Amino acid sequence: MHIFYGKAPLIAHLNSSQFIDSTIGFVPTMGALHDGHLALMERSIRENGYTVVSIFVNPTQFNNPEDLAKYPRTLEEDVRKITALNPEMIVYAPSVDDIYDGKPISQSFDFDGLENQMEGKFRPGHFDGVGTIVKRLFEIVTPTNAYFGEKDFQQLQIVKKLVAKYSLPVTIIGCPIYREANQLAMSSRNERLTLEERNQASVIYQTLLQAKVLFQNETIESAIQLVQQTFENHPLFDLEYFVIADEETLLSSITKEENKNYRAFIAVFVNNIRLIDTISLN
Ligand code: PAJ
Repeated sequence: MHIFYGKAPLIAHLNSSQFIDSTIGFVPTMGALHDGHLALMERSIRENGYTVVSIFVNPTQFNNPEDLAKYPRTLEEDVRKITALNPEMIVYAPSVDDIYDGKPISQSFDFDGLENQMEGKFRPGHFDGVGTIVKRLFEIVTPTNAYFGEKDFQQLQIVKKLVAKYSLPVTIIGCPIYREANQLAMSSRNERLTLEERNQASVIYQTLLQAKVLFQNETIESAIQLVQQTFENHPLFDLEYFVIADEETLLSSITKEENKNYRAFIAVFVNNIRLIDTISLN
């Protein structure tokens, strides 16, 4: 395992002759690694000559200072997990200064409106931060393929848009959501839940499954009503949004059109911790 804390030695390493005829797979993360992250890495290892993993809690994508301060940081444990997966992995764990040269501010992006829906609406500036860090990491790592989870489906679509708009020479590969035994989508933020909250959080995916049945057999409106009612009186969880949207444009819809793929998106709060999930409806 090779770990780099600065971009200059990483770039020098990636310029060495062993990489000339090889593909580089890249898995950007914010650490606190779980099996969902490791599944992205396994796929990258299978499909590329070398795999680079970045671990960087990117300050510019956090709109909530408490969320940034409390974001779990477990570098030693993360490095152990990556090494166990494959001893040849390359890890880039930069400081904020290494990435931002003393100015942790975002560039502004136009992602054709994708950035204004859901996460973008409720987390102002979030996708400018994501666009800034992902573009910068792509420039440093120069990957052939980069792997992103469908857990953050809006982020995945935005990264694809970023690559198209800037003609970046990288292929974006979306990967399925990994879940806990009780179907809660794996997330680094789950670490902050109590056992009781974690057990009860199965309600999120169960509700998405019920909404999917209503979407397919009845109407979008009935699906929305079911979700709102489920969370209205829930003792632990507060619904922030539930949206059924076209997968391409991410525009919310209240009527079903032929030849479009729809997806449900949900964000809930439990005790100030924000959890998201999504399901394909087609
Ligand atoms: P992070 O939340 O650490 O997630 C890193 C990658 O793992 C993302 O592509 C995310 O979608 C994926 N992922 C997270 N949970 C998953 C799950 N349960 N199943 C499958 N994939 C999952 O997303 C970010 O970091 C940041 O925004 C980043 C892209 C690194 C930019 O800072």
